[in-house]
Parts: sequence; C-alpha cells; structure tokens
Amino acid sequence: MRTKIVAGNWKMNLGYKASIQLAKEIENQVKNTNQNKTRVLVAPTFVNLKGTLEQLNEGIVEVAAQNMHQAENGAFTGEISAEMLVEIGIKTVILGHSERRAYFNETDKALAEKINTILKHHLETIFCFGEVLEDRKAGNHFKVVESQLKNALFHIKSDDWSQIILAYEPVWAIGTGETASPEQAQEMHAFIRNLVAKQYGSKVSNTVSILYGGSVKPNNAQELFSKPDVDGGLIGGAALNVADFMGIIQAANL
Ligand code: 13P
Repeated sequence: MRTKIVAGNWKMNLGYKASIQLAKEIENQVKNTNQNKTRVLVAPTFVNLKGTLEQLNEGIVEVAAQNMHQAENGAFTGEISAEMLVEIGIKTVILGHSERRAYFNETDKALAEKINTILKHHLETIFCFGEVLEDRKAGNHFKVVESQLKNALFHIKSDDWSQIILAYEPVWAIGTGETASPEQAQEMHAFIRNLVAKQYGSKVSNTVSILYGGSVKPNNAQELFSKPDVDGGLIGGAALNVADFMGIIQAANL
C-alpha cells in the first residue's frame, strides 16, 4: 500500500503567530480524527519553520520547507542551504514548484542539482512538475512532464526513490479554481507511474506516492483521491483554512 499524503503549501502567506496557530489547530484536529491514515505536512515560509516545528508534537503534522538552494553554502544572498534546514529538524523540502520555475527561473538543471543535494543530506523531497495551459491545449502535456522528470530526476538510483514524493501540478489549475478532472489527473498519474516503471521497475513505481495539486478543495478531493494512481494532494489556497484542509485530509482517509 502506498502512503496517502496531504501537504499544505502555504506559499508566501501567514506570519509567525498565524503559522503556529494554524499548524496547532490542524494538529489538534488530526489527533482527534479516528484512524488517521494520511501523512499530513504543512510548509510555512523559511522564517516560520523553526517556530512552527517547535510548537508541534513529533510527527502528527510534519513541517516541510518550500525550497532549498543546491549549493552547500557560499555567496548566494537570500538563499537557504540543506544543512541549515537539517539543523533545525526539517526532513522534507518542496522542490520545483511551478511558481519557482516561472518567477525565479528555476531550471531542470538546477533542480537536478537540488535533487542531488536532497539525497546527500538524507532529506525527502516533494518534487513538483506539470504543464502550462498552452502545452495542454497543444496536446504536449505528456511530453512536457516526461522531459521535466527525465531532466531533473531520472538520474537518481533505484534506492533513492524512498526519498522522493512526486507532485503533478498542472500550472493551469493552480490558484485558478480550475481543477484537472479526476480522469485527467488519473490519466497523467498513470502515465507518470508507467514512466517510473519503465526506468526503475515496478517495485519502485508501485511504492512512490504521486500527489495531485491544483485547486484541490474539500468538495473535489474525494473524487480525485479515489483514483487508483492519485495518492493524495499538494494543497495551496485550501491549506490556509483549517476546515477546508481537514476536509481534504478526511477525503484522503476514506
Ligand atoms: P492551489 O491549491 O491554490 O491551486 O495551489 C496548488 C499549489 O500550487 C500547491 O503547491
């Protein structure tokens, strides 16, 4: 059985107090949920990682970073290294989000280096990828996703896959209110799992969790998560509201 995962990407939202408050509310509610089968993570901004971690009890709600630089250290003003994250207790890092690719020129090459740094520091990544609307309209979405995975990720070894969670996030569905239909999500997730199987074999492809991201809400989560290759979600807007986020976690528990 693959692990079901629901992760909240808080992006550049919530100050220090609000981050702690939301994380603790989620923790309390998850604690009171009978038989929570889903791994739950939240990803506050860098400045709020340590404060949030310190206020949570080990493991019920995990705390992830939203990004990380590939270099060990050095003259990279404004950046954060793997070692800095590890030192404060971070175990998971989101990489390759479409907003990082679009607004901060993050390339497949840089992401391949970030993946190597993740592996070296025994971190885990939620690796994001997905096509823009023009690619989807032109029927190039499979090709785009294949090249994103091959160029940034498929150089790793089979054993390294225990440190990888995949997150398919079609850019046209992020923050737009437009969701990929459950059928579109399943079609792409099956394609992704098949790509992993071709390169690494079915043992790896059957164990890697593939999350869907893009306007997941409590009212569409259940149908998306019921698809055989959708193993949970990476949530933006709805992760900022405790009732919505809990509704999505409950959908994953079904
Ligand atoms: P929304 O859920 O707001 O569409 O954002 C998805 C996302 O980008 C998660 O990383």
